[in-house]
Amino acid sequence: MDYKLLIEEAEKAKTKAYAPYSNFRVGAALLTEDGKIYTGGNIENASYGLTMCAERTAVYKAVLEGEKKFKAVAITSDSHDYISPCGACRQVLAELCGLDIDVIMLKNINDFKLVKLKELLPYSFTKDSL
Ligand code: THU
Repeated sequence: MDYKLLIEEAEKAKTKAYAPYSNFRVGAALLTEDGKIYTGGNIENASYGLTMCAERTAVYKAVLEGEKKFKAVAITSDSHDYISPCGACRQVLAELCGLDIDVIMLKNINDFKLVKLKELLPYSFTKDSL
């Protein structure tokens, strides 16, 4: 599968991030199984702990629109290296999108690593653990 459009949407979403404290913008684009795309950017706060990551804003938007099945998430940032989702976002993606989704971690628009979420979150704690 070609994720070109998804990557472009993540790049666009990054431009809308609100990151005045870290100056580190992150953009995410989440692809549903039926081809819809939901985007997110990180949203910071003067009370730093209230910051929300780009990946979670995208997932929460999608879930609240009724989406349940996902194929992939593309993530881009201001880093010059591949961006890797934080631990909290891995856990939320596992819960709401499943461990089989593709995670596209961008260095730039032409250079990325593609892994399965289960590779980023081995020995995961999920509803099957309860
Ligand atoms: N950030 C994300 O949006 N996603 C991640 O997976 C890692 C970190 C944001 C949070 C904060 O606004 C900034 O990047 C610096 O940590």
